This record gives sequence, structure tokens and C-alpha cells, in this order.
Amino acid sequence: MNNPLFDLILKGGTVVHETGRELADVAISGETIAAIGAPDSLGDATEVVDVSGQYVIPGAIDMHVHFREPGYTHKEDWETGSAAAAMGGVTTVFEMPNTHPPTRSAVEFRQKQECAKKACVDFGIYALLAEDNIDEIQGLIDAGANAFKCFMGNTFGNLPSPSTGAMLEGFEIIAQSGLRISLHAETASIMAWRQSKLEAAGLNQPLHHIVARPEVVAIEAVARAAILSEWTGARIHVLHISSAGELRPLSEAKNRGVDITGETCPCYLLLDASDYERLGSVIRVNPPVREKKDSVAIWNALQSGVVDMIATDHAPHTLEEKTNDNIWKADCGFPGVETQMPLMLSEVAAGRMTLEHYVRISSANPARTFGLWPCKGRIAVGAHADIAVIDMARQEIISATKLHSRGKVTPFEGRATTGAPIHTLVRGRFVQRDRAIMPGVSGHGKQVTNIQSMPAPKPCNVDQSLAAVLATGEET
Ligand code: DOR
Ligand code: ZN
Repeated sequence: MNNPLFDLILKGGTVVHETGRELADVAISGETIAAIGAPDSLGDATEVVDVSGQYVIPGAIDMHVHFREPGYTHKEDWETGSAAAAMGGVTTVFEMPNTHPPTRSAVEFRQKQECAKKACVDFGIYALLAEDNIDEIQGLIDAGANAFKCFMGNTFGNLPSPSTGAMLEGFEIIAQSGLRISLHAETASIMAWRQSKLEAAGLNQPLHHIVARPEVVAIEAVARAAILSEWTGARIHVLHISSAGELRPLSEAKNRGVDITGETCPCYLLLDASDYERLGSVIRVNPPVREKKDSVAIWNALQSGVVDMIATDHAPHTLEEKTNDNIWKADCGFPGVETQMPLMLSEVAAGRMTLEHYVRISSANPARTFGLWPCKGRIAVGAHADIAVIDMARQEIISATKLHSRGKVTPFEGRATTGAPIHTLVRGRFVQRDRAIMPGVSGHGKQVTNIQSMPAPKPCNVDQSLAAVLATGEET
């Protein structure tokens, strides 16, 4: 072949956009998509891969993973976590700050950037917004934080949740940058109160976890965060939506123009309270898997757009850490970055969602929400060649021992799936091919830049911010 035009052509597949699909070849040069055209119309490439009968979709963008490094590498590290992502058709992850040390200052941010150099998929790094690091926020922004995470409720790592006063000041500062603040929206004081009473009464069975965290903890937290967002102009994102009740403050805030988005995870769609007896402490996650009526409401909200996206809260722990007869002693969360796509494609195969809508909630919406669009989140000329090639006929059985994560325990053990990503490309390079990780891909991942592409921030009530008042030395 003389002077091939392109590096790679994915030939004969069906390209799926959020608005429709087309039979088309996709040509890649370097890191980006160079051409999309009718079958056999694009000319030569150094490599041509036949994907006829398969679907070519933008790789999933998972805004919520815990890769545990630094500090908890017996649970996961950036190499194992990103390999799990690549196996799951996920091409970009945003990683959470509840590591050890937590990502609470520029020094720790740079430490995490070092760890992340092993990643094989692209990544964003969350910085922490806590009670005791308000003075570090600007340094974290300057160091390249891609978003902030605020734990309104306690969870793994036991980072104390900030007071509403600290949150407000944090929101005021972060609003100026346009970066989004993702919220673990459960109110800590309600949960601590209830859990201590339950523990004192000797109530320690799996379902007591829901009793300690009734849906009002999420309703109260989402409503309070939305008010602070509206007041300051800070963009916010509600992580892991678990209840029907919190959909109301979420949609009400959206209707009043608050820049608020929301995600849910497969466990809140596919499991419910009836699974606690079977799964025991393995199902323990914060927020908890709730009632059937909650999963029904969340499904509807995901279809209507009130819930914007699917993420995983990939939260690996060891089998020993997950298994305990006393629910309060079992670690919360489980791996998810590798199983999200097969689980959700199974729902597509069952007719519960179109593949176009799946592209919207797994890739396009996260890209837009976190300022990665138009480079990521779509199959289009000029966009990064971040691609999952899907075989909708492929049947697999989820088995924790086969997961690439170090977390070898999942509530989806034994579940049959239909549809899987058979290849994953990150900026033009195969990181997963034919259901195996490609050799030498560790380190291919890069930190994303998302600030430049965000629309100009619109902070409000700036004149009443603590910084403004302190600067003038006046009291209001
Ligand atoms: O169950 C959870 N586990 N929920 C979270 O929010 C954090 C996570 C973890 O880091 O283990
Ligand atoms: Zn999480």
C-alpha cells in the first residue's frame, strides 16, 4: 500500500450518535477522527479493521471512580483501575479524592498526578472540598483540578463532611473558576445520629444500612446544595442518585435554572431492597440500594433527562473487607467500571433504552457537563478517537475473579449480560482489543483539560462573598 491516507480505518460498522445511527467507516489519523464516510469510500489506511456487524460508539466517560492510589493500593491502583476501564469500554474516568492522603492541596494533587501516569485511559482528577482546606482551593485550581468533590456525608476514608458555612465559602471560590463541584449528597448528621442509635440497639443486619440512611438524607442534601449553587453560581453535580425523593429537588432546581446535573449507577437501576438477603454485606454501598419504587423512578428520570448520566462509583475493596456479619463493619461500595457497559447494553438489548440514548447518558452528557465536549463524547471528525466497538450479540457471565480490578467482589456475580465492548480505543490507540488489554498501554492515558472549553462562569452574589467582605475590611 503506497502512502496510506490514514493510520486506521474501522470498516463496515454502524456508527451510533446520540441522535441516530449510520452505516459508515471511521478513519483515524494520530489521536483524532479524520473522516467518516460511506462504506468503502475512505481510501487507504495503514491498518484496516473489519467491524461489520458491530457498533462504533464514543467510549464511556465515567465521572465517578475510586482508583485508591495513593494509599490503598491493596484495593486498586491506577494501572489495574484503568485496565478495568479499558475492558469496560470506558475511555475517560474522573477519579475521586478519598485516597490516603486525600487530594486536599496542590502538593497532594501533584502526588496523585504522578500515580496517574500509569493510566491507560484518559482521566480527570477531583480535588477535595472539605472543612479544613478552603485556603487550598485556589492552589488546587491552579494545579489543574478538573472538578471538586464535596462529601456532605461520610463514606470510605471517613473524611469529615464540611459545615454549610465552609461549603458556602468553597462554592464562592470555585464558582469563579467554572469548575463543577460533585456532591456526595447525603447529610452526615442525620446518618451519624441514626446509625449510633441502631448500633446501640444491636441492630446490625444488612437492611439496617437503609434505615440509617433513609431517603430524606439525600433529599435534604440535594436541596441544600442546590440553594448554595443558586446563590453562588457554582456548577454542581449530584453523584450516585439512589432515591425517588431526591429527584424532586433536582428537577425543581433545574427548572429554576440552577446549573445542576445528576448521575446514577447501575446498582440503583438494577438492584433493590429484595436483593439484600441474597447478597448480604456485599450490597452495602453509600448511598444504599433502596426500594423498587426508587429504581423505577430513577429509570424514568434517566429516560426523561432529569438524571443526566450513568457513572459507576467504582469502589473496589477486598473480599475480606466486604464480608462481615455486622453490616457496620463491612466496607461500602464495589467495582463497577468494567461491568457498567455490559450491564447497560443488556438493558438496551432488552428494549429498555435505545443505543442512541445510551450514547447520550454514557458519553455525550458527561462530556458536555464537565467541559470535555467537543473533543470527547462523540464520534465526529476532529474529535478524539475515543471509541468502544460493541458486539451486541456477545453473551457473558459476570464473574468477579475475571475482573481486571483488584476488587474481586461484585453484587452482579453470576449475572448474564448481552452486549460487550470488544475493542476500546483511546485517542486512536487500541488499549483493549478482542477482550484483552493490549501490551504496553500503561501510561497512554493523559489528564484531560476541561477549563478552556467551559462556557464563562456566572458567579452570583459575589459582592456578598466572604472574600469580598474581608477584602474591604467592612462588616455587612
Ligand atoms: O459506597 C461507597 N464507597 N460510596 C462512596 O461514596 C465512596 C465509596 C468508596 O470510596 O469506597
Ligand atoms: Zn464514590
